[in-house]
Amino acid sequence: MGSFKNTIIIIFLLSTCGLGSPIRSITAYQNCDQKWHKELLNGDPEKTLCQNGSLVSCIAMIMQTSAKIINNRAVNPAILNKYLTNNNGYKQGSEINFSVLDNVGLHLVRTVSDLKTAIEYYNKNYYIVLNINYGKNYGVLIGYNEKDAIYIINNPINPQENKIQAKDIAVALIFKPL
Ligand SMILES: *[C@@H]1O[C@H](CO)[C@@H](O)[C@H](O)[C@H]1NC(C)=O
Ligand SMILES: *[C@@H]1O[C@H](CO)[C@@H](O)[C@H](O)[C@H]1NC(C)=O
Repeated sequence: MGSFKNTIIIIFLLSTCGLGSPIRSITAYQNCDQKWHKELLNGDPEKTLCQNGSLVSCIAMIMQTSAKIINNRAVNPAILNKYLTNNNGYKQGSEINFSVLDNVGLHLVRTVSDLKTAIEYYNKNYYIVLNINYGKNYGVLIGYNEKDAIYIINNPINPQENKIQAKDIAVALIFKPL
C-alpha cells in the first residue's frame, strides 16, 4: 500500500513538472530478503548479502530484467552471489570484479561521476546503478526529474526510500546487457 501511494505521488510529481521521465519497469530485489539474507559474499563470514549485498542485488535486478540466466536459472541476488563466489567474481575485500560479469551477459561500460552523462546513457536504454552515500547503498535508476534533480531508484535496502537527490549520489555505473 505504501509503495502504491509513493507511486501515485511520483506520477503526480512527474506530470506536474513535465520534465520527468516515465518510470522504467525493473525487477526489484531486496538484499535482506529471507530467502538469501544470510548468504555470505565470497564465503566471508563477516559479510552477508543482507549487510553488504546491495550492489550484488542491483546487478541481479538488471540481469533478471534483461532476461539473463545463470546455470539455466533466472538471476536473483543468491544465484549471482554464488556464481561470483565460484568464478573469481570477487576481488579481495569482496569487491566485485566486473569483468567476470561479461561471461554472464552484462558489461560494465564505464563509471561516471557526472549525472548528466549518466542520464544520457539511461535515455539510450543502458542500465544505471547509482552509488549512494559513498557506497553505503546502491540503487538501480528507474526514473528522474531533471528540473528538481530527483532520481528515482529501486532501493534494495529500503524500498520506501526511492527518491534520491543529486548530492547523495557519488558515482553512476553504466551497464549494457550483451
Ligand atoms: C558491511 O556491512 C557492515 C554492517 O552494515 C558495515 O559496517 C561495513 O562497512 C560493510 N562493509 C563493506 C565493505 O561494505
Ligand atoms: C578480473 O577478472 C578478469 C577476467 O576473468 C581477470 O582477468 C582479472 O585478473 C580479474 N581481476 C582481479 C583483480 O581479480
